[in-house]
Amino acid sequence: MTETLIVERDAAGFAVVTINRPKALNALNLQVLEELAATLSELDSDRSVSATVLTGSEKAFAAGADIKEMKDLSYSEAYARDWFAGWDAVGRTRKPIIAAVAGYALGGGCELAMMCDILLAADTAKFGQPEIKLGVLPGMGGSQRLTKAVGKAKAMELCLTGRMMDAEEAERAGLVSRIVPADDLLDDAKKTATLIASMSIPATMMVKESVNRAFETSLAEGILFERRVFHAAFATNDQKEGMAAFSEKREANFSND
Ligand code: HXC
Repeated sequence: MTETLIVERDAAGFAVVTINRPKALNALNLQVLEELAATLSELDSDRSVSATVLTGSEKAFAAGADIKEMKDLSYSEAYARDWFAGWDAVGRTRKPIIAAVAGYALGGGCELAMMCDILLAADTAKFGQPEIKLGVLPGMGGSQRLTKAVGKAKAMELCLTGRMMDAEEAERAGLVSRIVPADDLLDDAKKTATLIASMSIPATMMVKESVNRAFETSLAEGILFERRVFHAAFATNDQKEGMAAFSEKREANFSND
């Protein structure tokens, strides 16, 4: 628990982090950034945690970067402090993060959800990059990640007009992996996290690293990277156990090494 986050660990092997600034619709200020970066880094090195569910409130996952905090920011201050660079910490985590999004995921809120690895949407979710209406543009990776997720035409339209898309449009466009009724969102995210936690942690981390490679390299480089990591998986005890269990027709009992 921090001032802006509720952090809960589940014995099934995952954590739930809830952004908790309800009066500001979970607007992402520097304090949220610092607390989230520290929390995710701690969870990343916790051997009892395989995955994290990141969520907000019923009304807002996060309604964006905190406009009130940055409205008077000067160019030189933004540049000198490398404003928003700290958010890269979320993308650098090595264990999967499931964004469970209900209500608004706008601007930095949409960008934060897109930094996560699995995006589950409640049927109430609304995604958008409305920065253009503030006279600016996405600043936490939105123009890049949204374009990679939904393609140029839709990303361009959303970023140029500030239009929001609902959960169904987001699913059709490939931004979210599934839509769930709002009341079931957290349970569903926890079930997904429980399933991930039943797997080998090294294999889980290798999958995350390899899938993310698809966003950062050419296809040939990405395929080579995946194959090399696949070879490395044969150095783990969990590979021996997983394949032995299959051959012996029993459940695998992973030791995470
Ligand atoms: C600071 C915010 C906020 C935000 C909402 N609030 N969003 N404060 N930063 N991003 C505050 C409101 O000021 C208000 O505070 C309270 O939360 C409730 O919001 P309302 O507007 O009264 O709620 P509602 O009428 O239901 O409208 C919801 C909304 C609207 C449609 C989500 O709040 C909205 O448009 N918010 C801004 C969305 C946005 O532009 N996000 C992008 C930000 S820029 P008070 O004190 O009045 O009760 C960004 C990247 C920047 O993320 C990158 C470029 C540098």
